[in-house]
Amino acid sequence: MTSFDEFEFRNIQVDRHGGLAVLTVDRPKALNALSADTFAEIAEALDLLMEDPEVGALIVTGGGEKAFVAGADISELAAMEGVYAGREASLAGQDVMHQLTSLPIPTIAAINGYALGGGLELALACDIRVASGTARLGLPEVTLGLLPGYGGTQRLARLIGAGRALDLMLTARQVRAEEALAMGLVNYVADNALTKAREIAETMLKNGPIAMSLVKEAVRRGLDTTLEGGLEIEADLFGMAMSTQDFREGTRAFLDKRRAEFKGE
Ligand code: CAA
Repeated sequence: MTSFDEFEFRNIQVDRHGGLAVLTVDRPKALNALSADTFAEIAEALDLLMEDPEVGALIVTGGGEKAFVAGADISELAAMEGVYAGREASLAGQDVMHQLTSLPIPTIAAINGYALGGGLELALACDIRVASGTARLGLPEVTLGLLPGYGGTQRLARLIGAGRALDLMLTARQVRAEEALAMGLVNYVADNALTKAREIAETMLKNGPIAMSLVKEAVRRGLDTTLEGGLEIEADLFGMAMSTQDFREGTRAFLDKRRAEFKGE
């Protein structure tokens, strides 16, 4: 079992109970803004979590009362100059978002307070999103003379459609939880986003872990290809699922009228 106490994270916290890990971005003084150090710690934590075979689901949330994550660290951005520095910063942030998106386990963003700019992009890199009543979501980069640089232009348009995504990015307006729910930007609204995210994660942890990783892979790879190509990917992964012990256990448990005990094999 990985002990995160051994690691000197300064900008995040990682807790694990049973199969559920919670990664909290924790720089409340800067509303949890994503500095380069914070990104490095998130990347390291994700690597460590993936070394632990018992971790079956991840919640990403923000520390303090006010924010999930209020974006990239604007002080760091302001100190950068030129095409190359900007491009490198964007690619580095995109890498960590991609690492999160590519995890084989379900990931849930529990959005408390502001999820702006890079903060919304972090939530978009998770599989699903839960917003509390205090959530305010938006991509306000154009107010800084920038565009979203950590995948927002691509993931938001794929999630809610180009028209709605362009509205949010060009107006820079903040959306409250109910509107975010109506446009499909978040999956759930709850009084306490973290409590709800834990409930959802516990439900997911009962399911076949390999099957869930294959669902994620099918959707992710399918979004980048034609319908025909996507259906082929689905069929291949369906075949792969049938070669697992989990499939044998799941179907046997159904026929025996008992709950399946998946081993991830
Ligand atoms: N970066 C660095 N510091 C930030 C920050 C950010 N993104 N957001 C907030 N902070 C800091 C503030 O500077 C302030 O610090 P001080 O107390 O030292 O002055 C502290 O957090 C509290 O913030 P506010 O006083 O501004 O709090 P507020 O309640 O008045 O406003 C807010 C809250 C509306 C979220 C406001 O802080 C805000 O607009 N933040 C910036 C949001 C933003 O533009 N995000 C996009 C960043 S760019 C980006 O993300 C690019 C990309 O895609 C790659």
